[in-house]
Amino acid sequence: MNLLVLVGFMGCGKSTVGKLLSASLGWRFCDLDERIEARAGLSIAAIFAKRGEAAYRQLESHELLNALGEARARRTVLALGGGTFAQPQNLEPIRQAGAATVFLEVGIEELLTRCSAMANRPLFRDEASFRGLYEYRLEFYRQARFTVPAGNASPAEVAERVLAVLNRNALLAD
Ligand code: S3P
Repeated sequence: MNLLVLVGFMGCGKSTVGKLLSASLGWRFCDLDERIEARAGLSIAAIFAKRGEAAYRQLESHELLNALGEARARRTVLALGGGTFAQPQNLEPIRQAGAATVFLEVGIEELLTRCSAMANRPLFRDEASFRGLYEYRLEFYRQARFTVPAGNASPAEVAERVLAVLNRNALLAD
């Protein structure tokens, strides 16, 4: 296994936990949101505001393919955006890349608390739409190969849980 993909709703800790995992594994870290911003030369909020969500999703799928391609050459921990794994066109390329997908599961109440404190997320508009989006996306996130509880725990503890799951499944053997 050469590619670990972290999946889950905004605020679940994909980027923070991903960086910790890349440090402990000695693997490269790739943050899809950061790649998209670098490619567009705009923040995610600005891409949504200027070009709209549909254009953002196209950019996201395109950068995902680039990231998956790069991961063939170097072992990688890839943190997706909150919506990436809920776009059907993105699932097959991730599967074909042989990725171990891990859903970082955090309950909606905790996500609300975490995300209310952050101003930079275009899809955090109001509580009702946030809850609706979470409900809609859960069935996609549950298609990840592994689910790791990620609420009420520090990023370091969550990273340990992910490593334990990967070890239990002999995915870090070589
Ligand atoms: C999104 C989540 C964000 C970012 C963009 C869209 C979503 O990523 O990709 O704002 O659709 O939930 P994070 O999950 O890293 O916040």
